[in-house]
Amino acid sequence: MAATARIYRPTPANLARLAGVLVRGGLVAVPTETVYGLAADALNPAACRRIFRAKGRPTTDPLIVHVLGLAQAGRIAVLNASARRLAAAFWPGPLTLVLERSPLIPDAVTAGGNTVGLRWPGHPFMQAVIRACGFPLAAPSANLSNQISPTNSEHVRRQLGDQLPLIVDGGQAQVGIESTVLDLTVTPARILRPGMIHAEAIAAVLGNLADTAGAAQESKLKSPGLLAKHYSPRAKLVILKWDDDASLRTQVAGYSVAPAQCQIIAHTRIPASFGADNVSVIPHDAEAFARALYGEMHRCDAAGARLIVVEAPPESPEWSGILDRLRRAAA
Ligand code: TXA
Ligand code: MG
Repeated sequence: MAATARIYRPTPANLARLAGVLVRGGLVAVPTETVYGLAADALNPAACRRIFRAKGRPTTDPLIVHVLGLAQAGRIAVLNASARRLAAAFWPGPLTLVLERSPLIPDAVTAGGNTVGLRWPGHPFMQAVIRACGFPLAAPSANLSNQISPTNSEHVRRQLGDQLPLIVDGGQAQVGIESTVLDLTVTPARILRPGMIHAEAIAAVLGNLADTAGAAQESKLKSPGLLAKHYSPRAKLVILKWDDDASLRTQVAGYSVAPAQCQIIAHTRIPASFGADNVSVIPHDAEAFARALYGEMHRCDAAGARLIVVEAPPESPEWSGILDRLRRAAA
């Protein structure tokens, strides 16, 4: 049972306590606006190696570094003109920029590469933590490798609670899926991981952007964390479209799972003939859907579901990050 960690409120006294843990090279789970992160001093290689051990993460998969402001960003990476324009448009916020690293950043963070992913997070408590520490924080999502990212402190406690002294409760993550990762070390820039800041919004700032579909294969190699089987619930997940209950029932029957062990996540065509405990409705609005999605997947796993059916979302740009996560979860 992973349950020994205590959950702390984001108070000034707790801020001092957790900054102390981080200064000594320890790990803490912290809220960000995207998903919860497992943070360590990004300039301390031993601390960063602890992150990989706690998550069971391959050391070949680089960590994102969280900064507070452009001055700090400029000390650990080369901020080119594109980076400055994007930072002005989207930081603080859910956009990670892959840039040429400075020698201050240890190999443990970059997996030995010469680039570093940087983000200025929007969550006020995460910002307070970086300010209190005075150093940038390396933080991947606070889940075990290949499991669903946590969007509240209880999700973190269930996965990593036996390994952490301190989990901070900063409320429900407001974005709900991980940041967009954009590689600015190539021209044109290339999205390595879609997110809620979508390709059209980035292209509007940069003027051009590599074709995302064509980039998919290359991104997998460049961002090892983006292998297809990722972000997965334990249950099988399928993305389906239906016009009415009969059509949904016919499709579900093909998976040979008892209806009681099937969970349906719908946003537009709400099935009426499945049990109330088996249907959840999340809003047909990309931002609200993203905020709710991982919580639903965690809930379905906790309920012992064997099949999770997600009503297919629209294919428009605002939904591209959500579609990416659903497809990986279904892979
Ligand atoms: O929203 C987020 O980005 C969250 C919160 C905690 O900030 N963090 C997060 O980190 O999702 P993580 O480690 O779970 O995912 C980071 C992704 C991985 O796929 C990794 O391979 C990629 O970003 N990445 C990190 N640094 C990179 C680099 N220098 N070059 C290419 N890809 C990189
Ligand atoms: Mg992750």
